Amino acid sequence: MARAKTVYSCQHCGYQSPKWHGRCPDCQQWNSLVEEQSLPVTSHSRALAEPGRPIQLATVDCRSEDRLRTGLGELDRTLGGGIVPGSLILVGGDPGIGKSTLLLQAFAHLAANGIALYVTAEESVRQVKMRADRLDIATEHLYLLAETSLEQIKQRIVELKPAFLVIDSIQTIFTSNLDSAPGSVSQVRECSGQLMIQAKSLGLPTFIVGHVTKDGAIAGPRVLEHIVDTVLYFEGDPGYPYRILRTVKNRFGSTNEIGVFEMRGQGLREVTNPSELFLAERPDKSAGSVVVPALEGSRPILVELQALVSASSFGTPQRTAIGIDHKRIALLIAILEKKVEMSLAGQDIFLNVAGGVRLDEPAIDLAAMAVLASSHLNRIINPKLVIFGEVGLTGEVRAVTQPELRVKEAARLGFSECVLPRKSIKNLEVPEGITLTGIDQVSEALDIIF
Ligand code: TYD
Ligand code: MG
Repeated sequence: MARAKTVYSCQHCGYQSPKWHGRCPDCQQWNSLVEEQSLPVTSHSRALAEPGRPIQLATVDCRSEDRLRTGLGELDRTLGGGIVPGSLILVGGDPGIGKSTLLLQAFAHLAANGIALYVTAEESVRQVKMRADRLDIATEHLYLLAETSLEQIKQRIVELKPAFLVIDSIQTIFTSNLDSAPGSVSQVRECSGQLMIQAKSLGLPTFIVGHVTKDGAIAGPRVLEHIVDTVLYFEGDPGYPYRILRTVKNRFGSTNEIGVFEMRGQGLREVTNPSELFLAERPDKSAGSVVVPALEGSRPILVELQALVSASSFGTPQRTAIGIDHKRIALLIAILEKKVEMSLAGQDIFLNVAGGVRLDEPAIDLAAMAVLASSHLNRIINPKLVIFGEVGLTGEVRAVTQPELRVKEAARLGFSECVLPRKSIKNLEVPEGITLTGIDQVSEALDIIF
């Protein structure tokens, strides 16, 4: 074995340095460098490279039916259609968001196709059993192992020969090759590297759970994003039962796919129709509410935007946006002031995406401006109307991606009118029951809406 060297690793971002620094030169965090032993990294890439001859791409055998279904359609969707044999999948998220619950439910289904091993390094076997009882899961092919030593885990895998594996969580297991504590950057990195080699050599699909805190304080998932094949993040607002599983990286499918779940007393329930859910509590007739057909990956989702604009009683007015980038909102407010001559300077402005969803695409610009105007003018927007379009700095409304998907979803949910960029209407197949109004300028849109 090569001589172990000492390095200083930043527990925040994973930066490594041969000497100590008070402040990480990479992420600027204070006091985050910890002395660790550095292994000549288990030469992950060397172990993976099969000695072989070059072969023609066309002759490589891989069929889409090789993907294994987890029984949870929403999880399969984020994986790009199911689990690819031998893949290493990271499921990250805040503590308590439901990662263990999700994987336990998925594994109960998977156990029908072969032995599924759930390594629980955080909770005792009895705790997992209690959760399984609550979820009403009972299957003879689901095995639990309460173990934190990676060497022991690997030994058990050789004996049991599982077809699926979960490691819950990567921050609590350790390899005895390293002295540093479980959860430190080098442990997390080394353990994941070894799990990767195992996954590829045995063709064993492996899920690893990783906790992330809001400020990324715990070393972990972020440093191993580039090692694994797929990264899924499980997110949600603790105040709401909805949970969104988001694909951040996927070597075997598209990113930006989402799966929607609802956390209930008996575990996670799939939400196959998120639009209906997000619109369920929408007020019928009040100013400051509008529906926007947003797109999450390849999936249209109708969500409600709410705004409250009221005269500020203090010197500096408040600007708060929840679920939308606040810089984008500042820009839209400036366009409203300059191009529509709406005076918002002395107003407190609050904007909220109902249901705890986050919207990141520019296609919601026009709807955000309309809802601000609606609250400011105290005028109701027709509840059967949906609005979308990107807005440029000169107040022009620009075309957006996939208008047909958005219009179709709106029509399906009973909306009868849609205001959208004129350029998006071209070649658009109009579904039954909805009328489309194309516009070029924000002021034109507001004239039509109010
Ligand atoms: P858990 O899967 O333990 O989260 P993680 O592994 O991400 O830390 O889920 C914990 C939360 O989920 C806990 O706050 C309780 C809630 N929960 C339910 O509401 N219903 C259920 O059936 C289960 C199992 C958990
Ligand atoms: Mg857990």
